[in-house]
Amino acid sequence: MAPQPLIIDCDPGIDDAIAILLALASPELDVLAITTVAGNAPLANTTANGLRVLDLVGRSDLLLAAGAERPLVRVPGDDSSETHGETGLDGSNLPAPSRMAAGEHAVDLIARLALERPGEVTLAAVGPLTNVALLAALRPDAFAALRRIVVMGGASNGGNMSPYAEFNIWFDPEAAERVLQAGQDLTLVGLDVTRQAILTSVDIDALEQLPTIGPAVAGMLRFYMRKHVDWYGEEIVYQHDSLAIAHLIDPTILGLVHCHVEVDTGVGPARGSTLVDRLSVFGGGANAHWAESVAAERFRALLLGRLGELAARLS
Ligand code: BDR
Ligand code: CA
Repeated sequence: MAPQPLIIDCDPGIDDAIAILLALASPELDVLAITTVAGNAPLANTTANGLRVLDLVGRSDLLLAAGAERPLVRVPGDDSSETHGETGLDGSNLPAPSRMAAGEHAVDLIARLALERPGEVTLAAVGPLTNVALLAALRPDAFAALRRIVVMGGASNGGNMSPYAEFNIWFDPEAAERVLQAGQDLTLVGLDVTRQAILTSVDIDALEQLPTIGPAVAGMLRFYMRKHVDWYGEEIVYQHDSLAIAHLIDPTILGLVHCHVEVDTGVGPARGSTLVDRLSVFGGGANAHWAESVAAERFRALLLGRLGELAARLS
């Protein structure tokens, strides 16, 4: 089968960086471009980090464009610096990027690529949904021309920014709700499943031995693990964003239900939470494929295997 054309909209971010590597390592996917958004770190950092990751794997040819530098409506009072570090990619020790981002805005780049191949291009959105909501608002023709959108975001049984809200949705709830209402084929890969998408310290020790990418990958994952140990008391790291990419490589890794999902855009304690209406209580009609189950061990094997193959190819 021909590889699926893919754009990754992201906020690197440690697990975003691993997700980019997984996508670039996978022959099922044809990564057309990376676009960045503010989230895990300010936009200047997420953009530099995307470029640093591409340099690491010799892909300074790949288009990368920066997008929104703040959420649509409210700037949240908290950030991810404890999780991903001040740079957004702490522990990686990657050098400064060799180039600047493209002159084009992320939204224009996504629109251009989507319209070049109507109905073909998948958008994987693994950061806050600001760029995606702007695309829906400003370029509805291009938004509709995407094949589908796969989002890492949401939680229906416990958040990571509040008892209910997951980070990507919490950071820009208005954008997420706008995207949910926009009528695209939308898949949401939330914490319900990504908390089962785990690498252990033994896995990280093995990754460290890989040529070329090993030290950077292991360094950032060890940094990322510190927060996981603090919060969850275990030496594991969640690979949230890679699970969304893995679903594109092997759709059978996730079990999905088609149902109605809404975001709380109020300013109370539930802001940014995803309400997953499996029984159609709201009667809003299904607008998303919600990930309910995951073949976690197959995911882990896929991720480790593909990173190994990428390293071998580069060495
Ligand atoms: C999501 O939030 C970010 O910190 C991660 O990169 C991931 O996209 C998990 O809640
Ligand atoms: Ca992310």
